[in-house]
Amino acid sequence: MTKKRAAPPLAAAPFRRRLWLSLELVAALSVLAFLFVVLRLQSYSLTTPQPTLLLFRDPVPFSGEPKIAFLFLARAGLNLDFVWHSFFKNAQVGNFSIYVHSKPGFKLDQSTTRSPFFYGRHLEDSVQVNWGEASMIEAERLLLRVALEDPANQRFVLLSDSCVPLYNFDYVYNYLMSSPKSFVDSFSNKKERRYNEKMAPSIPKHKWRKGSQWITLIRRHAEVVVDDDFIFPVFKTFCKRKLAEDIDEKQISEPASEKKHGCIPDEHYVPTLLSMRELEDELERRTLTYTLWNNSGSEKDKRSWHPVTFQYGNASPKEIEKIKNIDHVYYETDLRTEWCQCNGTFVPCFLFARKFSPGAAMRLLNERFIRPFEISSLLQESS
Ligand SMILES: *[C@@H]1O[C@H](CO)[C@@H](O)[C@H](O)[C@H]1NC(C)=O
Ligand SMILES: *[C@@H]1O[C@H](CO)[C@@H](O)[C@H](O)[C@H]1NC(C)=O
Ligand SMILES: *[C@@H]1O[C@H](CO)[C@@H](O)[C@H](O)[C@H]1NC(C)=O
Repeated sequence: MTKKRAAPPLAAAPFRRRLWLSLELVAALSVLAFLFVVLRLQSYSLTTPQPTLLLFRDPVPFSGEPKIAFLFLARAGLNLDFVWHSFFKNAQVGNFSIYVHSKPGFKLDQSTTRSPFFYGRHLEDSVQVNWGEASMIEAERLLLRVALEDPANQRFVLLSDSCVPLYNFDYVYNYLMSSPKSFVDSFSNKKERRYNEKMAPSIPKHKWRKGSQWITLIRRHAEVVVDDDFIFPVFKTFCKRKLAEDIDEKQISEPASEKKHGCIPDEHYVPTLLSMRELEDELERRTLTYTLWNNSGSEKDKRSWHPVTFQYGNASPKEIEKIKNIDHVYYETDLRTEWCQCNGTFVPCFLFARKFSPGAAMRLLNERFIRPFEISSLLQESS
């Protein structure tokens, strides 16, 4: 038997060779097929970017003091420029910068502001902002983009034209600089009706967040917001405002799926983007801007809640002190109590407050909450 194996019949040899050839062919084809699949997978992942795989910008070196960029989202001018003037007057010029987004064509100069700090600080390429629409986040992104051009800007504070500071500059500066984190109000809401299923899979429902528009970002997060071209288009398409009035009027005729997605982009965009990018560990998940909500309409119906505007009458020292003493925030939908912290130490929650009328802001100044300040000196300077 062994002999037979050792000396196979001659006729078998060409057959063997053919067998080997075809085996080689099959192997070669398999390798090709495998390569083809790998390449296809690669091009697939290139055309459908996974946000977690996106890179961060390299840190930009700078010399000198780090600055806080104060970013104002204003309709037109700044009514409360006199409060901010006294705030910035007590700061070193090299420790802050100011950027204002106003309606297109609006310029800040001697004729539109009493404070020289704001001269020329408007963005040239501003957009028309409509409340509750994507144009609001476009304006925020523009402010961040322009502020990022100065490498010394290390913290980015978004403010409205009705915001006031509750402390002097040094306090705000040290508070923000002592923390390596951003301050972004962010919570999930199991009963969230603003999430649109069509956003999946780009934005899965468990990543959807809500939070106050008034954020403070570290530089790295400001870059993430400006560089985002993945989440923003989804928001533009699927997160659209529906006026409360519209909903009431159309409730009968509109299908339920239509009316439930009324969505206010600026209350969802940044917290959702940062949760998509797995950056929530780098956040203090709260806002630094206090808002008093008027829920007198109905305790339950949050749609009717609206911010109270402080007037001279209810901006008493006692009221302001109450705001400054708040040290925790309760998040009802998360069943989470946030004890306000900054780099591991307990601190007051709020550095800023809204919405203030000029009268209320004047009272705040007079009561010397910000710093001993002579109203007359400001009036002399600006006249
Ligand atoms: C501001 O900058 C100066 C140097 O220009 C620095 O000595 C100071 O500590 C900085 N901080 C504040 C809060 O002003
Ligand atoms: C934050 O806290 C740590 C630990 O207490 C401390 O070493 C660090 O200097 C603090 N960071 C800043 C920026 O103050
Ligand atoms: C709250 O809103 C109601 C009407 O919805 C109004 O009458 C009331 O004056 C408001 N309260 C404050 C403090 O603004």
